[in-house]
Amino acid sequence: MENLKTRKNKIEGNIGIAHTRWATHGEPAKHNAHPHISNQVVSVVHNGIIENYLELKDSQIKQGYKFTSDTDTEVIAHAIELAMQSNNTLLHSVQKAIKTFEGAYGLGIISPHYPNTIIAARKGSPLVIGVGKNGNYIASDQMALLPVTKKFIFLEEGDTAELNLEKITIYDINGIKVKRPIKTSKIKEGEVGLGNYIHFMQKEIFEQPQAIRDTLESRVTKESVLVSAFGHKARDVFKNIKRVQIVACGTSYNAGLVAKYWLEDIAKIPCNVEVASEYRYRHPLVLDATLFVTISQSGETADTLEALKIAKKLNKKIYTLCICNSAESTITRESDLTFLTHAGPEIGVASTKAFTTQLVALALLTCSIGVSKETISKKREKSIVEGLKLLPGLINECLLEEDQIKKIAIRFKDKNSALFIGRGTMHAIAKEGALKLKEISYIHAESYPAGELKHGPIALIDDNMPVIAVAPNDELLNKLKSNLEEVKSRGAQMIVFEDKDSKVKPMKAMEIISITSNLGRITAPIIFTIPLQLLSYHVALIKGTDIDKPRNLAKSVTVE
Ligand code: G6P
Repeated sequence: MENLKTRKNKIEGNIGIAHTRWATHGEPAKHNAHPHISNQVVSVVHNGIIENYLELKDSQIKQGYKFTSDTDTEVIAHAIELAMQSNNTLLHSVQKAIKTFEGAYGLGIISPHYPNTIIAARKGSPLVIGVGKNGNYIASDQMALLPVTKKFIFLEEGDTAELNLEKITIYDINGIKVKRPIKTSKIKEGEVGLGNYIHFMQKEIFEQPQAIRDTLESRVTKESVLVSAFGHKARDVFKNIKRVQIVACGTSYNAGLVAKYWLEDIAKIPCNVEVASEYRYRHPLVLDATLFVTISQSGETADTLEALKIAKKLNKKIYTLCICNSAESTITRESDLTFLTHAGPEIGVASTKAFTTQLVALALLTCSIGVSKETISKKREKSIVEGLKLLPGLINECLLEEDQIKKIAIRFKDKNSALFIGRGTMHAIAKEGALKLKEISYIHAESYPAGELKHGPIALIDDNMPVIAVAPNDELLNKLKSNLEEVKSRGAQMIVFEDKDSKVKPMKAMEIISITSNLGRITAPIIFTIPLQLLSYHVALIKGTDIDKPRNLAKSVTVE
């Protein structure tokens, strides 16, 4: 709707700022929308949070400023305007004002007194400059600028920049002119378009075989994993570590949960996994010889970045590794070791190919740690590598089940809740399945380790609560089968995704979808993710939600 409004009111000009705001302060409403303007002299768009805004607001009110929004951003506009009143240039006013801000910001500022200039500034939030042939641009993320340029300058913490049509001048945190390199993005044109797909999420689900192939390329030989894929110091680092701490958010956190099983069971190294927003505030004990692993598609998630910074501050002797899909992101610059998932650009808010490539990266990490510490044999390493190479084919096989999954999706049309169950790594996959369903179809979905049902959630089961179970042919299969009986006898409608060899006993009101067979400990969680992604996608399609941009969510959450 807003789009239509801006289209109707055509604006003439060759300079402008705009921002899609993820509401942190104040409801999503016109008066809170960016840009915020002070006395018709300064206009500001802002990504981030100004934490001392109440303090600044009080003092600005005393100085006669009138506030028209509930946002924290408005104080930025007034602070710059105030500095301009003392005959400072726009650039100097920004440089002066930002010294008073606590918190995080990526800023774009214009003023009618400087009709050809945009000032940019960043601290804590990402900001990239696009160097174009016919103009220069700023954005929070290079993806947004790919339609206009492939050349980017990534601003450093505390930088300010002055941009006009001809020139880009950058200043560091001390206001000293600096040169920052121009980098050329390797992302190809077609990768950011929809092609023949209706939604990016759909496209990205179907891109998974290629994304995994790309992630494995040059990281494995015929029979072994190349530990150096994690950096030239990786082998020494992995030899010396005594534990792994994984920190991440959202889907990336779910990938970490799978890795915990692998790292402890296969590589024999203790592993903890925690959501970043908790870790950063709980004064954790950061022990020596920890490999601190962050997982992030964007590499810009504020909580994950902060958790990493805090861990490094608490113990300078830890080793840090990020598993990330964005080469130039802040997290890669903050980490000792980087492993890039080569998923390609992921545009749908609900993460799909980033997740399965993260799992591939974590499988390689498990193997690399095991090899470096000699906790896994050559034979095991070979079988893991061979299993990983089978993934693209197995996923393609799984995608063929789409029509069957489409039919099942209809059953969710009028449901308000769903329960996802699994055991072992499959609990993490059930959790990811539930997250996908709630994110894009707005159906309340929960996940439980199947063995925990009897301690509470079984009370919820009736014929209005579909239960989705993930049943690979592993050592917990018989336990899971007993759990299915328990659920069934409470009248649940069930959907079971099984390995062909699992042979789950058909029961009334139970739909069984056999996806493939002979999955191993590493391949199973990756493969069982696929039907759950397809299920959510088709439920959302039936419900008519905005699949690629679900309400209230953002692709990259750069505020805490
Ligand atoms: C947001 C996205 C999720 C994503 C999470 C973590 O909430 O909507 O899809 O999993 O952030 O993002 P990251 O980029 O750190 O993986």
